[in-house]
Amino acid sequence: MKIKRKVTFYFLIWSTVIYKFSFQEWKFLLTIVFIFFTFFIILPPIIGSNDHFISWYQTFRHKLTVLFLGDPTTNTDAYIINTYYYPRSKSLGENAIAMVLLLDRNTVRDITRYQMKLVATDGNNQSVTVKPTLIKEQLNEACRLVNVVATTNVLPEMKKLEISDGNTKVEIPFKLPRQSAPTPVIICISPQFIAEQWQLFVTHSHVARRFGGHLHIYITSMLDSFFELAQEYERLGYATIDFWMKLKFKSPSETSLEPNSNSELRNQAGAQTDCLLQYKEVAEFITFFDIDDILFPRGYDSYYDEFSALHLENPGILTFHYNKREMLVHNKADIRDIDFSELFGHTWFVNEQDYGKVMTKPTSINSMWIHESFNFSYKRKLFLRSNWLVHIQKPVDTDGKDIIPYRLSHFEQMPEMKLNDSVLVDIQHDFERLLNTSSILKIAENLPTKSYYFPIIYRCYYEKFYKKFQTECPNGEGCLVR
Ligand SMILES: *[C@@H]1O[C@H](CO)[C@@H](O)[C@H](O)[C@H]1NC(C)=O
Ligand SMILES: *[C@@H]1O[C@H](CO)[C@@H](O)[C@H](O)[C@H]1NC(C)=O
Ligand SMILES: *[C@@H]1O[C@H](CO)[C@@H](O)[C@H](O)[C@H]1NC(C)=O
Ligand SMILES: *[C@@H]1O[C@H](CO)[C@@H](O)[C@H](O)[C@H]1NC(C)=O
Repeated sequence: MKIKRKVTFYFLIWSTVIYKFSFQEWKFLLTIVFIFFTFFIILPPIIGSNDHFISWYQTFRHKLTVLFLGDPTTNTDAYIINTYYYPRSKSLGENAIAMVLLLDRNTVRDITRYQMKLVATDGNNQSVTVKPTLIKEQLNEACRLVNVVATTNVLPEMKKLEISDGNTKVEIPFKLPRQSAPTPVIICISPQFIAEQWQLFVTHSHVARRFGGHLHIYITSMLDSFFELAQEYERLGYATIDFWMKLKFKSPSETSLEPNSNSELRNQAGAQTDCLLQYKEVAEFITFFDIDDILFPRGYDSYYDEFSALHLENPGILTFHYNKREMLVHNKADIRDIDFSELFGHTWFVNEQDYGKVMTKPTSINSMWIHESFNFSYKRKLFLRSNWLVHIQKPVDTDGKDIIPYRLSHFEQMPEMKLNDSVLVDIQHDFERLLNTSSILKIAENLPTKSYYFPIIYRCYYEKFYKKFQTECPNGEGCLVR
């Protein structure tokens, strides 16, 4: 689809050329054609992945495009999701600001070139006006609202931040990033919606705990009983719950879009970026996972050890990518029946690797998409072969039925994938200790025993997303849940 768009785009330039210059000297026309072929067709593959060249080349190409097509500035809708102020930051500098936003891609042809104006004021009424750098983290060009991170530096002791269009100013609320992290390793979990698979949350929390990690989990919507359980786990220090709001919107129109259905995959990328920005100064390592992507270190006893070793062995690498391997698991109806050795002690996997997830130091990057960041070159990403994420995409339901009876996974025995038994025993022990000493068992009485919403959402996603990728803006909006 990306290629197709480009072709149309070139065609437009081509017809402009013909229209404007066909009556003039043929030499001039040839020069234009030469420039077009050189800069749009011949040069790109030659320039390849040299970052300096890419930047220079993109600027030149942008100027050339603007010269012919102009740069429309028609829709400037912006949704500011969160803004952080860092009096001192290891990676963003002094008095830094980082904002997570959704911007209408029709603002300018290249959204990262939009010039946003921010006014920062301190307690003495001193103010500075700045234009932040915009980083885009989005894959799907079919989505009108683009996930963007704005970063800039302002002044010490900022008391007020405003966004200005030259005439009017609107105040932007901001907060400080987190001042401490419960563990050096933070696992950011993308937003849960209509969530009911509490078993995933329980297992992920305990595995993370064993290896020195802590879940930071975003919630859009969740069954009451599951939410109560999650809150109890938060009180017990296993997880931090955060909110990922749906943007309420009454009367959308072509110029003022309904934000939820026009942002990519419920703006998961925005949530992962938000998590990064929250823990930027305090976490040693950060990972961007889903609730059903569970990492077991391999050859190390903790996340910290594995992540430190990877960084030490691979200087210059910014992000480490764990592929996913689907594992067969059975959901339990009763929390007391969960047994980690039974869940993870077997070797039934799908012999395929899926597009994985990322681990990094929060000082290494300033923005994140869902599976990787697009803001730096592949030379600085390492796709790991030494370990992978255990992916529990479609747990078999409590009655033994496959809740997703299509697109079946082909599980086979893969002995080399076996997880460490003694670790599973440790985890089980911690789990039982919790059941014995907390009010988890009481809360668990109200948990659902069967999956009801999950198969509906899964099918809807399958129809809307997996099948028609990149022709429609993919997300769960419009999935009918009854
Ligand atoms: C800053 O400006 C506001 C409004 O112009 C005024 O009310 C306030 O007293 C000023 N504060 C200082 C410290 O000068
Ligand atoms: C399993 O984990 C334990 C505890 O971390 C460790 O002592 C043992 O060497 C591991 N076994 C294997 C086979 O990796
Ligand atoms: C990263 O974002 C900055 C700011 O928009 C931009 O100048 C740079 O070209 C981006 N790099 C890549 C590789 O996309
Ligand atoms: C939890 O309680 C049960 C039953 O009283 C007991 O058998 C088990 O050893 C306890 N487990 C832990 C880890 O305390």
